[in-house]
Amino acid sequence: MLNKKDLLGLYDTSAEEILKILETAEEMKKKIANPTKDFSDLRGKTLVTLFYENSTRTRCSFELAGKYLGANVVNISAATSSVQKGETLIDTGKTLDAMKIDYIAIRHPMGGAPRLLAKSVKASVINGGDGMNEHPTQALLDMLSMKEKFGKIQGLKVAILGDIKHSRVAKSNLLGLKKLGAEVVMYAPKTLIPKDIEKLGAKIANSREEAIDGANVVMGLRIQLERQSGGLFPSLSEYSKFFGVKDELLKYAAKDAIIMHPGPVNRGVELTPSLIDGASSKIEDQVTSGVAVRMATLKLLAEYRENNL
Ligand code: CP
Repeated sequence: MLNKKDLLGLYDTSAEEILKILETAEEMKKKIANPTKDFSDLRGKTLVTLFYENSTRTRCSFELAGKYLGANVVNISAATSSVQKGETLIDTGKTLDAMKIDYIAIRHPMGGAPRLLAKSVKASVINGGDGMNEHPTQALLDMLSMKEKFGKIQGLKVAILGDIKHSRVAKSNLLGLKKLGAEVVMYAPKTLIPKDIEKLGAKIANSREEAIDGANVVMGLRIQLERQSGGLFPSLSEYSKFFGVKDELLKYAAKDAIIMHPGPVNRGVELTPSLIDGASSKIEDQVTSGVAVRMATLKLLAEYRENNL
């Protein structure tokens, strides 16, 4: 069971809670391999997805996770909701609460928005990505795919290359992986490395080769052009040439290393197409893990609600 009403980040999620979510998600991943995905764990519960930013994977997998477990699911996009008429986040949350819903999965451009919402509503709030802060279910699904491949997280070396500065995925992965005993090494142009990331336990490499040396996992991160005001690197082609992960760099990694990326991928920028589509790529498996992790999160939060609220 989780010891919390909401899942807001891995900063305040314990190693035991992370392991419980991963263990439950492994069961869920077996369930969704069934041709008929018609389970009743959440029958009578209602999930609202409330997205203030674009999404394919996260929003769709929350919806499917709820539906596979028998919940009612309603999707709200800020672009077509009363947010456009000036309604505040808290008023939107209270309005949804008054409809007696059980969960809100939210994505918001402002770091901390899910926490603000969680304080104002009775529903369980799940962070689907808040600004440059956290994306906890993404890191959990990444860890699920790693754990399935290697049997454990402890002792793995995970190399993360890309736009670390703007990445909530990098931060949540760093927090979660360190709690489970992995080594996390990062590499990017200095302009894309956030100040103080080493205080959270990251090692910063001086080259791609150093980052990838002996790595079990090589994770590329999307260059987030929409969050950059410009001037952080000369051009995408130069980024790709000097900082992208190329096939020939894989000779430095562990023999059975896997390639990961949270998506969406800028093909040929962060990773070469042959790595994205190659035998070592776990990018599609990450998407399947995403449904399983969100099912596990909904189920474990339901148990907390039944016992505590
Ligand atoms: N990885 C991820 O969050 O993807 P979406 O933006 O498509 O949800």
